[in-house]
Amino acid sequence: MKYLLALSAATGALSQDWVIPSDGIDTEVALTVNGYDKHQTMIGGGCSGAFGVACDQFGASGLSPENQQKVTQYLFDENLGGLSILRNIITSTQSGSILRDCPATPSSPVNYTWDGSDVCQVNLTKTALKYNPDLFIYADAWSAPGCFKTNKNESDGGFICGVRGTNCTYDWRQAYADYLVQYARFYKEKENVTISLLGAYNEPDFNPVTYSSMQSDGYQAKDFLEVLYPTVKEAYPELNVSCCDATGARQERNLLYELQKAGGGNLFDIATWHNYQSEAKEPFKDRTGGKPNMETEWSQGSQEFNPYWDVTGQEAEGFQWALYMHQGFTAGDASGWSYWWCSNNNTNDDVLIRLAGDDYYIAARLWAFSSYYRFARPGATRVDASSNAEDVYVSSWINTNGTVSMPVINAAHLTYDLNVNLLGLNVTKATAYLTDNTHNVTAMESIPINGTRFQATVEPRAMKVFFME
Ligand SMILES: *[C@@H]1O[C@H](CO)[C@@H](O)[C@H](O)[C@H]1NC(C)=O
Ligand SMILES: *[C@@H]1O[C@H](CO)[C@@H](O)[C@H](O)[C@H]1NC(C)=O
Ligand SMILES: *[C@@H]1O[C@H](CO)[C@@H](O)[C@H](O)[C@H]1NC(C)=O
Ligand SMILES: *[C@@H]1O[C@H](CO)[C@@H](O)[C@H](O)[C@H]1NC(C)=O
Ligand SMILES: *[C@@H]1O[C@H](CO)[C@@H](O)[C@H](O)[C@H]1NC(C)=O
Ligand SMILES: *[C@@H]1O[C@H](CO)[C@@H](O)[C@H](O)[C@H]1NC(C)=O
Ligand SMILES: *[C@@H]1O[C@H](CO)[C@@H](O)[C@H](O)[C@H]1NC(C)=O
Ligand SMILES: *[C@@H]1O[C@H](CO)[C@@H](O)[C@H](O)[C@H]1NC(C)=O
Ligand SMILES: *[C@@H]1O[C@H](CO)[C@@H](O)[C@H](O)[C@H]1NC(C)=O
Ligand SMILES: *[C@@H]1O[C@H](CO)[C@@H](O)[C@H](O)[C@H]1NC(C)=O
Ligand SMILES: *[C@@H]1O[C@H](CO)[C@@H](O)[C@H](O)[C@H]1NC(C)=O
Repeated sequence: MKYLLALSAATGALSQDWVIPSDGIDTEVALTVNGYDKHQTMIGGGCSGAFGVACDQFGASGLSPENQQKVTQYLFDENLGGLSILRNIITSTQSGSILRDCPATPSSPVNYTWDGSDVCQVNLTKTALKYNPDLFIYADAWSAPGCFKTNKNESDGGFICGVRGTNCTYDWRQAYADYLVQYARFYKEKENVTISLLGAYNEPDFNPVTYSSMQSDGYQAKDFLEVLYPTVKEAYPELNVSCCDATGARQERNLLYELQKAGGGNLFDIATWHNYQSEAKEPFKDRTGGKPNMETEWSQGSQEFNPYWDVTGQEAEGFQWALYMHQGFTAGDASGWSYWWCSNNNTNDDVLIRLAGDDYYIAARLWAFSSYYRFARPGATRVDASSNAEDVYVSSWINTNGTVSMPVINAAHLTYDLNVNLLGLNVTKATAYLTDNTHNVTAMESIPINGTRFQATVEPRAMKVFFME
């Protein structure tokens, strides 16, 4: 946290009614952080402007230039939302694609087009970069161009021609690999923006849908990634390759299992998965050979926009999102966690910030994200942390400069007293940042640390991050 901003959304806070007295209840909770036991490296939190919603964030629905900046700052500023990942779609619908006309054969001349907007994702990318210059940009395709596929349509599933199980006139795998690299090249050469991660799939385990989509199992992914991976590394050695944005953690593990079995276990750099159809219950390292994994898309999406932290316990509330991410980090060793959309002019739960004309409403979900990503910055290492109370959840991260973040989530309806024991850390002071129904990552007490121990409290139904220096 290099500076503190005083941007604040106006509107009254809810009162917290459901708090019980602690009389007669043992409120002591022991937390232990073991800095010697190291796990994954943080990449960060993120969201997407795919399918044209970046245009909502950049004025298409009446958001003023001033608020376009504010909304983007709320998401990506290190001291606000703290996000550091942006997932852009490599658009395959003809109007937004870099390949508007199909070459006759894979060896015919190719005519790529760059329109400088990329369906407003250039606006979103450059503005996000302004607030987070170290932005990790994930460019991901939902489908290959239709003419490269078995069903001749970028929608409706189908397979890239050339992988096992297909029987097309031509093998279009190299053309698809070249097309994906060309997208990263346009960003580099036309926009001076470096893409960090490139993906060829979105939910390839999900059967034909009526929007951009392409199917693959792990064996077929091997057949394509063996073309894509060397093509990417030859063009841009620093550019990493993902696999494969399956609909759930279990679906991703199955796909990675098949990829490994087919001999393709080294044809990607980061395993990417969504949290829709299953959550992470175990680390991915046996399926990734130790490479990182991250969750790259999820939202509930079906309900009316829910801005609250903890009112009914409904799944889109901020408090629930704190727990979802806790699960991903501690059970799945996830290095990152992205929401679905950043913002749109709609009334659903599929965004972190809802836009309505020139107004914007921040979901408390963003404060759960902020609690993790403001204090455990990219490059931080997760270390072991444990709680002796099942309704108190703890994780811990050591930043590259030695500062330590310890997010604590209290699911009880009473205040708990924490006895914290620190092993292998070099810190002398903890500052608490509270999020509940009336606080948004608000700086609270500062606690001196005497040797390896300190005491603190955690409020009911709250997330409290102890940032230790
Ligand atoms: C260490 O890094 C954290 C996270 O980036 C930052 O907030 C903090 O100010 C840094 N501390 C020092 C002493 O540089
Ligand atoms: C290449 O594509 C652009 C945009 O679709 C089009 O204007 C141009 O005529 C095409 N050039 C050739 C040689 O086909
Ligand atoms: C958005 O992109 C357009 C060009 O497509 C550009 O004129 C405008 O300045 C951009 N706005 C921001 C805020 O980046
Ligand atoms: C593949 O396609 C060719 C030409 O359409 C056809 O002759 C052949 O039987 C097909 N093979 C299989 C295994 O479907
Ligand atoms: C490209 O971006 C880098 C920062 O990422 C900057 O240092 C450089 O000046 C930029 N180059 C141009 C031509 O704008
Ligand atoms: C690509 O992956 C390698 C191996 O995990 C890692 O060292 C490198 O930092 C990654 N590069 C980017 C740009 O993320
Ligand atoms: C591609 O699939 C979509 C969605 O099912 C359908 O509406 C469209 O007509 C198809 N296009 C072609 C060229 O078949
Ligand atoms: C955007 O929000 C405004 C205000 O709620 C509404 O009037 C308009 O219809 C919305 N536009 C779109 C494209 O949803
Ligand atoms: C906290 O953020 C919410 C939006 O999520 C806002 O309505 C509320 O006014 C903010 N409260 C404080 C104390 O800043
Ligand atoms: C702890 O931090 C102090 C001050 O930064 C440093 O001088 C000391 O070497 C560190 N000790 C360990 C064990 O890392
Ligand atoms: C720090 O802890 C030691 C025992 O570990 C105790 O003797 C000492 O009084 C404590 N100092 C403070 C300032 O609490």
